Amino acid sequence: MNRYVRPNIAKMAGYVPGEQPQHAKFIKLNTNENPFPPSPKVAEAIRQFSAERLTRYPDPTAASFRTAAADRLGVPSDWILCGNGSDDILTICTRAFVGEGERVRFPTPSYILYRTLAEIQGARWEAVPFRADWGLGDDFGSSVGDLKLAYLPNPNSPSGTWIEPNRVLELAEMLPCPLIVDEAYADFTGDSCVSLVSRCEKMLVSRTLSKSYALAGLRFGFLVGQPSMIAELAKVKDSYNCDMISIAAATAAILDREWLAENVTRVVTLRESLADRLSHLGFDIVPSRANFVWCTHPERSPRALYEGLKERGILVRYMEYEGWGAGLRISVGTPEQQDVLLAMLAEIV
Ligand SMILES: Cc1ncc(COP(=O)(O)O)c(C=O)c1O
Repeated sequence: MNRYVRPNIAKMAGYVPGEQPQHAKFIKLNTNENPFPPSPKVAEAIRQFSAERLTRYPDPTAASFRTAAADRLGVPSDWILCGNGSDDILTICTRAFVGEGERVRFPTPSYILYRTLAEIQGARWEAVPFRADWGLGDDFGSSVGDLKLAYLPNPNSPSGTWIEPNRVLELAEMLPCPLIVDEAYADFTGDSCVSLVSRCEKMLVSRTLSKSYALAGLRFGFLVGQPSMIAELAKVKDSYNCDMISIAAATAAILDREWLAENVTRVVTLRESLADRLSHLGFDIVPSRANFVWCTHPERSPRALYEGLKERGILVRYMEYEGWGAGLRISVGTPEQQDVLLAMLAEIV
């Protein structure tokens, strides 16, 4: 036990992200990246960027991005806070709302990072199981004195399931604390809770450019909230949490609405085909509103399937949740990648 760090840090395991092989050539379907390249406008913005500008600090508020995002989402720009990926946004919120010994809540199975953020803070966490239909009961909104923050991924990961915005609003209104609706995958659903933020101060919606904009490597995310919330959260973020190049590239990306619409249509079509083909191979799948599919097989263990695919050069995400069991989360790939995946799975099962 390291005696210099706070005891809660020494005790915690730390978040383990999906494998990110930097050299070996894998078909990579494990971390829900977009299989297609980003908008050409992003490459153009980076080419146009003059390295001389890097002598100065970036705009601490990323105003150009906020203006462009505000226009796209139909909210004023002071309702937006930018972050170095949406994980940064989740961290800022946890630091701002949750003190040591206080409590956070999230559904399970869901995004594992929420628990890690609570542990870093020295906070306690409460995992509320999804119902069998992947909905959430009123217990998710129940009021407990020391509950300071709730997280709700929508669509959820790993299931890809979606809770209707009106139900999310009901839960937000029941809760005694802010609710972050983590909409990392919402562009793939065609729906969102953003328009509900004006009706409930406690509701905050986080978004990322890592998935639908194909910019996981850029690190850019943002939060939509009422200005009374955004102004407080801005005090907690690093002054320069988004660099100049990422602000320029993210702004170009969000302005290219046509690219986004085409990409989303392509990914959703591929998701449906992936789900159909997995069903034909005997997999049990959960209908997904995101860019991945959660599946299990009645006769093959998820661990064996994961390993069999990895040996054949395909990475998918093996996930195991206490009290829930294990499964595979498979990201949408290009048509060619999905053909290889399905051929290999047919061989294994
Ligand atoms: C539910 C959920 N939220 C947030 C993130 C983080 O995304 P970002 O790349 O913006 O940090 C992920 C990444 O996989 C995710 O699955």
